[in-house]
Amino acid sequence: MKLFLILIICASAISSSFAYDPSPLQDICVAIAEPENAVFVNGKFCKNPNLTVAEDFLFQGLNIPGNTNNKLGSKVTPVTVDQLPGLNTLGISLARIDFAPYGLNPPHTHPRGTEFLVVLEGELYVGRLMGLV
Ligand SMILES: *[C@@H]1O[C@H](CO)[C@@H](O)[C@H](O)[C@H]1NC(C)=O
Repeated sequence: MKLFLILIICASAISSSFAYDPSPLQDICVAIAEPENAVFVNGKFCKNPNLTVAEDFLFQGLNIPGNTNNKLGSKVTPVTVDQLPGLNTLGISLARIDFAPYGLNPPHTHPRGTEFLVVLEGELYVGRLMGLV
């Protein structure tokens, strides 16, 4: 029994020393619309890394409140790969959501995604539909 316990401890120590994230296929894959001199990854063409510029990783405008004067009383300002090409293949996106009093964001899903919210002002009631993620 003692030997078995020692083997378990050694096995877990060895396995933790070999645990690491596999190397990513590439460091960056800035999305571009034109396929010339590009490779196709994750549904978008990648810009030649030698041609990337700082602006590929810059989005400005999250400080601007969205217009909530609509029937939902909310406005989503997305920042996905479509607005910020440098996000391509990084598995991350963000959004600013403005709500008028009693405004709402319709039920929706985030397939394969995790969401967290930061409320900067006021109160927000958030729910989860069972069976959806
Ligand atoms: C990027 O530049 C390096 C250095 O000049 C070069 O070796 C490499 O082939 C270039 N990569 C592409 C995809 O053009």
